[in-house]
Amino acid sequence: MSDWSLVYEEFNPEQERLREALCTLGNGYFATRGAAHEAEADSTHYPGTYLAGGYNRLHTEIGGRTIEHEDLVNLPNWLSLSFRHPDANWFNLQAVDILSYRQELDLKAGVLHRAVQFQDSQLRRTTVSSRRFVHIGLHHLAGLEVVITPENWSGPLEVRSALDGRVVNAGVARYQALNNKHLAGIESSVVGEDEIFLYMETNQSKLRIAEAARTRFVLDDSLLHPTRAVIQEPELIGQACTIPMKQGRPLTIEKIVTLYTARDHGISECGLDARQALTNAAGFEDLLRSHTQHLSRLWQRCDIGIQDGEDSQLTLRLHIFHLLQTTSPSTIGLDVGVPARGLHGEAYRGHIFWDELFIFPFLNLRIPDITKSLLLYRHRRLDQARRNAQEAGFNGALYPWQSGSNGREESQRLHLNPQSGRWTPDNSALQRHVNAAIVYNVWHYFQVTDDWEFLSFYGAEMILEIARFWASAVSYNAEKDRYEIFDVMGPDEYHDQYPKADHPGLNNNAYTNLMVVWVFCRALELLDMLSVDSRTELREIMHISTTEAELWDDISRKMFLPFHDKGIISQFEGYEDLEEFDWERYREKYGDIHRLDRILEAEGDSTNRYKLSKQADVLMLFYLFSSDELRILFKRLGYPFKYSTIPQNVAYYLSRTAHGSSLSRVVHSWVTARSDRAQAWDLLKAALRVDISDVQSGTTAEGIHLGAMAGTVDLIQRGHTGLETRGGTLYFNPCLPKGLKALNLRLFYRGHSLDVAVTQETFQIGSRPGRSSPIRISIKGKSQKLKPGQIVSASI
Ligand code: BGC
Repeated sequence: MSDWSLVYEEFNPEQERLREALCTLGNGYFATRGAAHEAEADSTHYPGTYLAGGYNRLHTEIGGRTIEHEDLVNLPNWLSLSFRHPDANWFNLQAVDILSYRQELDLKAGVLHRAVQFQDSQLRRTTVSSRRFVHIGLHHLAGLEVVITPENWSGPLEVRSALDGRVVNAGVARYQALNNKHLAGIESSVVGEDEIFLYMETNQSKLRIAEAARTRFVLDDSLLHPTRAVIQEPELIGQACTIPMKQGRPLTIEKIVTLYTARDHGISECGLDARQALTNAAGFEDLLRSHTQHLSRLWQRCDIGIQDGEDSQLTLRLHIFHLLQTTSPSTIGLDVGVPARGLHGEAYRGHIFWDELFIFPFLNLRIPDITKSLLLYRHRRLDQARRNAQEAGFNGALYPWQSGSNGREESQRLHLNPQSGRWTPDNSALQRHVNAAIVYNVWHYFQVTDDWEFLSFYGAEMILEIARFWASAVSYNAEKDRYEIFDVMGPDEYHDQYPKADHPGLNNNAYTNLMVVWVFCRALELLDMLSVDSRTELREIMHISTTEAELWDDISRKMFLPFHDKGIISQFEGYEDLEEFDWERYREKYGDIHRLDRILEAEGDSTNRYKLSKQADVLMLFYLFSSDELRILFKRLGYPFKYSTIPQNVAYYLSRTAHGSSLSRVVHSWVTARSDRAQAWDLLKAALRVDISDVQSGTTAEGIHLGAMAGTVDLIQRGHTGLETRGGTLYFNPCLPKGLKALNLRLFYRGHSLDVAVTQETFQIGSRPGRSSPIRISIKGKSQKLKPGQIVSASI
């Protein structure tokens, strides 16, 4: 295995779905799981193709209640290509003797290879190798090449190539009780000699989807023109033909595919455009070449080199790769957000959470236009967020915890505990803190880019409306002379209500309360920063009175924060009254105790009773803010912030965390980066393994954990370089964890292309030649200007 290739040397049916997710190819517009081209969905395989923003809603009756759910729709399977000997079954890897097997995801070229040599029951030996890509530059195009070599036989072989729209959303076992048929056929046809066309529509969102495919056969360097039989159903179109195979002579099958939808830009009608684009499309080799060129440009911007004497480099690249399969330059201008599980599977139904918080820092410093586009997805749903707030009895804008097509709350109301088989209430929509994360994301995009246009036209409106929401969500407690926030959930999903309470929600979640203070500070700073004209305009349009701004200021100084045990920031008010959890006993009993929520519910108990968390909650504060920023916030509130506050809280919560969320280890590695460099490195390595080793036993097969993937990349990028973008200065305070010998990366910041190299002892930054104005950088507290063409070094 090189640093650029994920390789599997044997076929393992149990791991197949995991590998399909890890070998997904995409371009930010659509993505296709790395399923075998001959496979249909069964207990081993799950082919899936997903369009960014391709949602549809269905109703299902569960336990006497009708629930509506919105899913990222599994689109027609364009890979479908198989073969058989006359009178035999279609090729099935599990029905033959596999003599050799190799699957390789080439990250540099963006190509998935598979080579299988097998022997069937008639002792015929055959080699089948395939390559495929999803074009990262021409985002409507994909290609598959299959080469079949008969090694010890000659004779006819039937080959079938199809576009299969009979697919449903069945990729997640927990959702099996839900209706899953989202697509209806409109047209299926054959075009000319070698093209097929499938036209479908989602049954609720009425999104028209067109796929066209051209399949060609080459034997002995000649293009064949076999007679093709048509396989036509309303939801499937295919062609089958019989090729006279000759021993030792490879047959090359090339399938080029186009995918369009009615929502695309620059089209007349998606069916027409899909066919037209296919007619104009080059052959497999040419398309592959241009795809690889496009991808290599992206790698030049996005690669991060690390030396740790182990295999972390490959995993880090795999994470960067999947970020680029989910969001890429093709995303710019699309009305889509970034789903927590990528476009790699159906977990969480393709919804968008707060995970952007972990994803945007990488994009901000590479291709900030992608972040901008993803933030515009939020802005377009501002009106719906206003309605969400109104319906819940608040002012301003309330963005949903889970967002899909139009920005209404898509969180499920009930969820299934597979361990007990029971459906229980899902209160996660009370995670209002996503509304602070959005402000954080807008603010940090601006800090990196200085994009005033975005800030004044779009960002400001979101920040101010969210501030307004929070102002309506706080209650003033005259006795304490403090503001409080009731009935919410923090990031830790293992606590959604007090043990004996009859309603969901917790009071004064410290993370939420402090984030809200920060939101008010930014809203006020924003009003100060904007030009007089923009400010007047916004205040008029949004009717922001001086009294309203004064209230924001007051809340930002008097928000309540709960504490216990002399300096521990309580996760929420009353946390200290919960019972300590017997970790040892549960570890002994169950082994894997990531999902304590399921374990305890199945036992008739509840995580709500204990001092335990699924993931970082209080500690998120140390992840998002530097100690200087926290000191300022605490001072504003009149609470003490001592040097020991951070290590004391880190130790307290780290020992009470189950890491039931993939995001957890990222945050914990970050917050221990300076105090315990050995532990930070161990946690980072564990975070790097989350998907590649499927640490959460089966969840990666349902979609990668994009937030955690991006989080590990950002740990290297910002965590270990100590990078901050604040007030027009790029700060570095490098500190490599033990175990990491060196790192190299390229950043893009305000017109500068910066090469950064860090070792345990040295730091170097160079701005590549260009015409941008100098920028201000600060290395370990020493501030200076950096001009294009200049290199600065420092010892650590
Ligand atoms: C985590 C959330 C996260 C979501 C999507 C959940 O398991 O608890 O914090 O946003 O997954 O990744």
